Amino acid sequence: MNTVLSVKDLCKTYIVRKNSNNVLRNISFELGEGEFVTVMGPSGSGKSTLLYTVSGMDAMTSGTVDFSGRDLGSLSRKELSKLRLTEMGFIFQQMYMMKKLCIFDNIVLPAYQSGMAHGEANKRAEALMRRLDIIETAEHEVNEVSGGQLQRACLCRALINQPKVIFADEPTGALNSKAAADVMRELTNANRDGTTIMMVTHSVKVAAMSDKVLYLMDGDIQGEIELGKLTDEEALTERERRLSGWLMERGW
Ligand SMILES: Nc1ncnc2c1ncn2[C@@H]1O[C@H](COP(=O)(O)OP(=O)(O)OP(=O)(O)O)[C@@H](O)[C@H]1O
Ligand SMILES: [Mg+2]
Repeated sequence: MNTVLSVKDLCKTYIVRKNSNNVLRNISFELGEGEFVTVMGPSGSGKSTLLYTVSGMDAMTSGTVDFSGRDLGSLSRKELSKLRLTEMGFIFQQMYMMKKLCIFDNIVLPAYQSGMAHGEANKRAEALMRRLDIIETAEHEVNEVSGGQLQRACLCRALINQPKVIFADEPTGALNSKAAADVMRELTNANRDGTTIMMVTHSVKVAAMSDKVLYLMDGDIQGEIELGKLTDEEALTERERRLSGWLMERGW
């Protein structure tokens, strides 16, 4: 298996009013091509920070992150944003869409920017919006949709360029069970087509769909459980049971 993401000795320290908080302490791990990995851990353990730093959205304090043979720390801002546009997809709740554009235009914009023919980009955007049941919000402004619709629109935008890796922070966080199932179906389908996924969730049910779960606590990855690829929906309950037992042992 080829390595897509290789993280070595990653540290992240936040300094707030002269107090330093070592959120990530010497984290090392690898993400193989086509893997679907979930990060779990207590609130405040640094899961979002980890996702932001390994995807180059936020600067690390020290360490190295290699994305497909490129050292993120050595890239210029321009190179980094091109890499993010063409090879990464993001589903982050805190990441706002462009207020001046309607939902459809927000979704299709990364495709235009990366040079996809407009006709094809529009078709892809429409198909994604239909599959996620938000087509009726196409012409709405960003502040005219619900939190859950916005979250699904973020997923459409993340998928439009068929990225190599998707980083998803609580992708089902604001959603009811039907919408959450739609989101997870799209993510698992993208994964089956070869997209690597790194996701954060508090939901055992959602995490049980991934291949592997990393447990983050006290700034370090304190364990991992290999679940293997989900091939049969029937097996999901058994995977959930295994995962919750494992999490309970870690005081989750
Ligand atoms: N921009 C920031 N400046 C200073 N401290 C921050 C910043 N962002 C996060 N932190 C701190 O870093 C720690 C980790 O935060 P992070 O958001 O990564 O946690 P999390 O595991 O994602 O939590 P949750 O499950 O609640 O989303 C927390 O103590 C938080 O207060
Ligand atoms: Mg978080």
